[in-house]
Amino acid sequence: MAAGIDDIALYIPNLYLEASDFAEARGLDPAKLQRGLGVEQMAIVDTNQDPACLAANACLNLMQKNKLSPEKIGRLYVATESAFDESKAMNSYVIGMLEQVYGNESFGHCGGIECKFACVSGSYALYDNTNWIRAGEAEGQNAIVVVSDIAKYDLGSSGEVTQGAGAIAMLLNDNPRLLAFDPKVTSTSIKNEYDFYRPFGKETPIVHGQYSNLLYLIQVKNALADYKEKILKTGLVTLKDDETILDHIDYLNMHLPYSNMGKKALAYLVRHEWRSLPRWKDIIAEIGMEEPVPKDPRGTIESVLADAEFMAKDHEFTKLFTKTEKYAEVYESKLASSLIASKMVGNLYTASLYLGFRSSLEFEYQKGVDLNGKRIGFGSYGSGASAMVFSGLVQSEYEEVVKDMNLEAEIGVRTKLTLEEYEELHENKRNTENNIHSAKKEFILTDVKTSPESRGERYYEYIE
Ligand code: HMG
Repeated sequence: MAAGIDDIALYIPNLYLEASDFAEARGLDPAKLQRGLGVEQMAIVDTNQDPACLAANACLNLMQKNKLSPEKIGRLYVATESAFDESKAMNSYVIGMLEQVYGNESFGHCGGIECKFACVSGSYALYDNTNWIRAGEAEGQNAIVVVSDIAKYDLGSSGEVTQGAGAIAMLLNDNPRLLAFDPKVTSTSIKNEYDFYRPFGKETPIVHGQYSNLLYLIQVKNALADYKEKILKTGLVTLKDDETILDHIDYLNMHLPYSNMGKKALAYLVRHEWRSLPRWKDIIAEIGMEEPVPKDPRGTIESVLADAEFMAKDHEFTKLFTKTEKYAEVYESKLASSLIASKMVGNLYTASLYLGFRSSLEFEYQKGVDLNGKRIGFGSYGSGASAMVFSGLVQSEYEEVVKDMNLEAEIGVRTKLTLEEYEELHENKRNTENNIHSAKKEFILTDVKTSPESRGERYYEYIE
């Protein structure tokens, strides 16, 4: 049975910080943000927004655009790493908000949980719900998977330039117009790591930035190796002697904590895949230098990062590699369009990969590419750490959905924050009512109880 993504809707907060203003305030070269990391603007939440209302707004957009009534939804999963309760799942808040519009208890039949594994949990939620459909349990109903996060780092930390916020809701069913997932290819890797984590009660994560970059690459490479074996076994793809699995993936969407991480990941995976192919000889000749190896090739991530000579040479090699004609063609055709939205919005943690997917569909379609039957690969990564690689085929009815995609219009008119406003919001110095953006046709947070018997209860309202 086919199963996959029928439609996709987003909600991005209207407030944003301009990377160049931010760079100036922190004494950074704006080129580091714009060219070095690929960050142009970062979406920031208002005082009356939290990850649950971002999620509910994305779900409402999805349901209204598809004229779906609650009885058509059998499962609603929320994947997030911005949870504010250790027990009560974010779905329950989202259902509560949706019932303000669709009627009390209108979702009473619907199941679902909140999923956590840093940025990769949305991919696990998609996989589990796809299997619910494949197993025939959906019986004509749809599942909604919503990924929602606020990426917030400490003021002045190196992660502060990679913030953002937003939610993406995906509609899954057995007759998807957008993408049908390839069966029996989903591959995972997992390892107990401390690259990025957020202990109980702490609002911002503890991050080992350079370690996390390299761990991401290694984990995705491991999952890709498994994916390769699986997809060859299914017979969906057969490889000739001089081919790699990446030659058979038309578009690759990577987890994007900042847009240039997608570039880093593609270059790393392509290098790894091409190294054993006849074409590598020509690449090395064009670059004019041998591929460097660390002093201890079997060493740890720490020992590789500490090998300054290797790191400098590897950086030089990567730069030259990405300038080769063959690689540049792969980058332009498979990845570039997926990075456009990330530059405008910033990091959405769980939602970053799916914002990239949406971006790729919208901007490839605008180029006039016929997407029917194209294979789309996904490289999902979550700190802590796990990666997931999977793929799907664009379906013949995709145009019905993609023709109306318009990122700028869907984000709406944006309000640029001053640095003072941003810092006040960041440090929670404004109360809920002291918001900046005037809400319209959306859910907002109106109250968080503080009395001992109801501490933490959250109340939301739909603003007409
Ligand atoms: P950093 O040390 O501030 O930056 O940290 P850098 O020195 O590595 O510079 C970044 C790039 O800018 C480099 O390019 C520089 O050369 C370049 P690259 O070597 O990568 O090609 N650069 C410049 N370019 C032009 N003009 C200039 C200039 N100066 C430098 N003047 C880091 C960067 C991403 C580590 C930091 O922002 C951070 O810690 N971020 C948070 C962690 C993170 O995003 N990690 C990503 C991988 S882990 C992951 O994705 C999981 C995550 O999403 C969490 C989850 O799963 O829940 C984070």
